[in-house]
Amino acid sequence: MMEITRREEFSAAHRLSSPDFSDEKNEALYGLCANPHYHGHNYVFEVTLRGPVDPRTGMTYNLADLKEIMRREVVEKVDHKNLNEDAADFMKNRIPTAENLAVSIWERIEAHIEGGLLHRVRLFENERNFVDYYGER
Ligand code: NI
Repeated sequence: MMEITRREEFSAAHRLSSPDFSDEKNEALYGLCANPHYHGHNYVFEVTLRGPVDPRTGMTYNLADLKEIMRREVVEKVDHKNLNEDAADFMKNRIPTAENLAVSIWERIEAHIEGGLLHRVRLFENERNFVDYYGER
């Protein structure tokens, strides 16, 4: 069993605010990410595929194809966008936390990866904070 990973990056703005909470509660919960005038992050994300090595190709999956899918389905949709406003469809109107962004990336990528190879989406919001999503299981 092999795991192979491709890393890509994009820059996007967001604001974290839940309609379930007051402004005060949102500020206490999300801190700087609750800034009503938005702010940016340089996001890095990794997609890991897990599967056997095909003896004919010596590869688990063609990383050039994975790169193309990640750029077309994610980077081109969110790079230099406002995740709350411009990318509301991509986010399915979920609060653009790192967790929800990882779920949205998973959904976009999964539709193009055959054979159940998609194993993990790792999203870095900055160098110190990152989340791992393994799908619904
Ligand atoms: Ni933020």
